[in-house]
Amino acid sequence: MSVLAIYAPIEAELDLVLERLRELAQVDFPWLGQMLDHVLRQRGKQIRPALCLLSARFHPHDTTHVVTMAAAAELLHTATLVHDDTVDKSALRRGDPTVHSLWGDSTAILLGDYLFANSADLCTSTGNLRCVHLFARTVMTLCKGELNELFSAFDAKQDRQHYLQRIERKTASLFSMATEAGAVLSGAPEEEVLALRRFGHALGLAFQIVDDILDYMGTEEDLGKPVGNDLLQGTVTLPAILLLEREPADATIRRACEGPDREAAVREAVARIRDSGVIDEAYAIARGYAEEARRELRRLPSSPAQDSLHGLVDYVLDRSR
Ligand code: FPP
Ligand code: MG
Repeated sequence: MSVLAIYAPIEAELDLVLERLRELAQVDFPWLGQMLDHVLRQRGKQIRPALCLLSARFHPHDTTHVVTMAAAAELLHTATLVHDDTVDKSALRRGDPTVHSLWGDSTAILLGDYLFANSADLCTSTGNLRCVHLFARTVMTLCKGELNELFSAFDAKQDRQHYLQRIERKTASLFSMATEAGAVLSGAPEEEVLALRRFGHALGLAFQIVDDILDYMGTEEDLGKPVGNDLLQGTVTLPAILLLEREPADATIRRACEGPDREAAVREAVARIRDSGVIDEAYAIARGYAEEARRELRRLPSSPAQDSLHGLVDYVLDRSR
């Protein structure tokens, strides 16, 4: 299924989401307007708003609040990226210079806060207290995930469990917020809400594992950032952890974390990981979560939305960017 076909049932609503986001850049403060334009014109894959809209599709509903919540999910994601790039000192995002590299760290943090507050404002305007709770708890979880990443940076002694908890927090939480909120706003029965929440969680894990694989296997052109960037920034992800599990005595990852010549050591680690077979193992783990996601989907009634969500699972596994 192509991305176009996956998004077909919600095409009109996704356009409304993008319109809502574009409207946010119309502010009476030109500097802020310019920065908002910069971050909002970079089109991502829109997976989170799509998940919210598709999860609402199992029950007839007034789409106004779901579109608003989908926009809140995308904007919260954008806010986290602006903060994350500042924390990670990343120069590029989606092939464009990052906010902190153009305007400095203080401005980037404040812009991220502005986007975060704006997404909270969108979420509260759904008038749904469960969604507001969910949103607030998701932000807390995202922050825990990012703090966990910071505290475990450059640590070559991490295990799989530690990694999974980290990606559950920093990625799966926002995916499951999007699916749960979409289901809640459509008036779905509780067992469907919970199935969609678990679906979003499992899909989020598969998504982040593939993201971490692509960081080693992709091209700079597709990724919009350098290959091996995670390890260069000190983030030890699943491929490196699997290599450490297989060959505990191997010093490649440790040298990439500790130096002295980290850049050369990271290049060596990328090459080792590429030829070691750990990538196949990491894909197998991602496929396990994708299967978990599909199991949850099968609890829901057959419909074009269910087909699209199945298509999204395939897309998450097969993507190259
Ligand atoms: C990108 O991960 C980062 C995240 C998924 C979460 C970051 C969360 C925060 C910075 C907390 C934000 C808090 C508020 C209040 C908005 P990555 O570094 O793996 O992705 P990348 O390689 O694309 O940078
Ligand atoms: Mg990052």
